[in-house]
Amino acid sequence: MGYQLFESAKLGPLELRNRTIRSATNEHLSEPDGQLTADWANAQIELAKGGVGLVITGHMTVDRTQRADEGQPVIDRGIDMALFKKAADEVHAAGGKILVQISHSGIKGMASVNGRPAMKPEDFTVEELDKLVELFADAALICKEAGFDGVQVHNAHGYLLSNFLNPNENHRTDEYGGSLENRFRLTGRIFKAIREVCGSDFAMLVKADSNGSGDLHGQLELYQQAGVDAVEISGVDFNAKAKVRTPFYFNELMAAKDGIDLPFILVGGMFSRQTAQSVLDAGIPFVAFCRSLIHDPGFIGKLERGEVEESKCLSCNACYKIYRSKPVRCVTHTVPIAQLEKLYGPYGKN
Ligand SMILES: Cc1cc2nc3c(=O)[nH]c(=O)nc-3n(C[C@H](O)[C@H](O)[C@H](O)COP(=O)(O)O)c2cc1C
Repeated sequence: MGYQLFESAKLGPLELRNRTIRSATNEHLSEPDGQLTADWANAQIELAKGGVGLVITGHMTVDRTQRADEGQPVIDRGIDMALFKKAADEVHAAGGKILVQISHSGIKGMASVNGRPAMKPEDFTVEELDKLVELFADAALICKEAGFDGVQVHNAHGYLLSNFLNPNENHRTDEYGGSLENRFRLTGRIFKAIREVCGSDFAMLVKADSNGSGDLHGQLELYQQAGVDAVEISGVDFNAKAKVRTPFYFNELMAAKDGIDLPFILVGGMFSRQTAQSVLDAGIPFVAFCRSLIHDPGFIGKLERGEVEESKCLSCNACYKIYRSKPVRCVTHTVPIAQLEKLYGPYGKN
């Protein structure tokens, strides 16, 4: 028998209660200066209480001068450790595990929040890249000190590490630009530094674009060499997939994964038990969910108890349209469907 959604599973050093993962979702719940809020901590705890096996937090920036928006939390030595620890402890008490997604905004840094322009790969001196490696490693260590189970490095969606990997966005001519190996160099150094400071019992995952680098298989080989515990497969164009309710990047992953000995997590377009199980049946051991959990943080528990078979999320992406300016919520809670249909067209029988 193949993988089953609701069986316990090992993911790197972690024992998960099931094969479901909450994909990182920027909650837009920090203070304006990037400090954590009680609402941020409660959002993570609510997901664990709702039955998710592994919660991955929304991306937190390792560089407070390069935030993605004014609701994005900063992870550095100024963080409210009591609140941070509370999130980890209460997720564990609810039977879940939790990783922090760590990120640098790159070309998506919001100048109006940061008071300085966003940074492209070629804007960094080599000394600044050395410093950035230290910032990522220290962020991971802060997570470990607070009791988190690991980190996920954000290499996807057009943020800095995705910019480095993308030949169209990386115009450097030194050892950090050019070949895939060179474009991967910064990421590789970050993984090495995280392992050195956090050890091998601390999970180290990556979220990767299936498209963007031009060579997914080559990228996966480099992740394997770098010793990551698992790769979550997404894509740079995930936000263009409104209303697509089948796994967006399934074919890309299937075409690239042969010969790679790493656990994969597939995200994007998973809204029902049947769809999630079909991914597991194809030999992919973990499935991740975002918008269905914005709609209902208790969705996974309801699936497990047989109370629902499919999410009532409309996959309209209205949550995505608001998330850089307002706390993330499902707009179907407050906006009548008729109004949404005026904006986005018919929703069919959903
Ligand atoms: C409001 C919102 C915020 C998101 N924030 C993040 C984030 O912080 N980090 C990340 O890697 N992906 C982020 N994503 C992408 C999701 O993790 C996921 O890859 C994508 O929504 C596809 O999954 P789904 O079809 O289950 O929604 C975000 C998506 C949405 C809609």
